[in-house]
Amino acid sequence: MKIYSAPLQGFTEAVWRNIHSNIFGGIDGYFTPFIRYEHNEIRSKDIRDVERKNNAVQHLVPQIIAATPDEMRPLIALLENEGYNEVDINMGCSFPLQARKKRGAGILPYPSMVKELLKEVNSYSSIRFSVKMRLGWENKEEWRADLTPRSWTD
Ligand SMILES: Cc1cc2nc3c(=O)[nH]c(=O)nc-3n(C[C@H](O)[C@H](O)[C@H](O)COP(=O)(O)O)c2cc1C
Repeated sequence: MKIYSAPLQGFTEAVWRNIHSNIFGGIDGYFTPFIRYEHNEIRSKDIRDVERKNNAVQHLVPQIIAATPDEMRPLIALLENEGYNEVDINMGCSFPLQARKKRGAGILPYPSMVKELLKEVNSYSSIRFSVKMRLGWENKEEWRADLTPRSWTD
């Protein structure tokens, strides 16, 4: 069994992760809290949190939150540049400030946006993507909507 450390914005940033792994250990992978692209930039605080030089844990998976491929690209560029080959996409955050911008769980009622966003991952052959998500915004069947395997590739 693998044990992963879940991301908690405002709690599990680099300092916590480094200290936790140093003192306790036993975690197979740490996920960073999500980073986002907003007002044409990535916050320097978020950049610091994923920079390799600030992270000592063995297996770190950065998490991003985005509503569109345009918001996603600069985040992945940063992470690619830092040498990451795994990225987690947040489709679970229900925090109103993010969700009302159709990020996190806020994208789930819009299957065509989910599709556009996830089609973008095909552009990065060296990165393995995962998705942390809720089953839906309004109901637990929402995640199934329009997401047959065929729709991912057309
Ligand atoms: C303060 C706070 C911040 C969180 N930040 C994130 C985040 O950045 N990314 C994420 O995927 N989940 C985030 N979560 C969700 C947690 O990772 C976790 O999935 C959720 O708390 C459910 O686990 P629990 O039942 O053990 O609390 C956050 C939760 C809390 C309470």
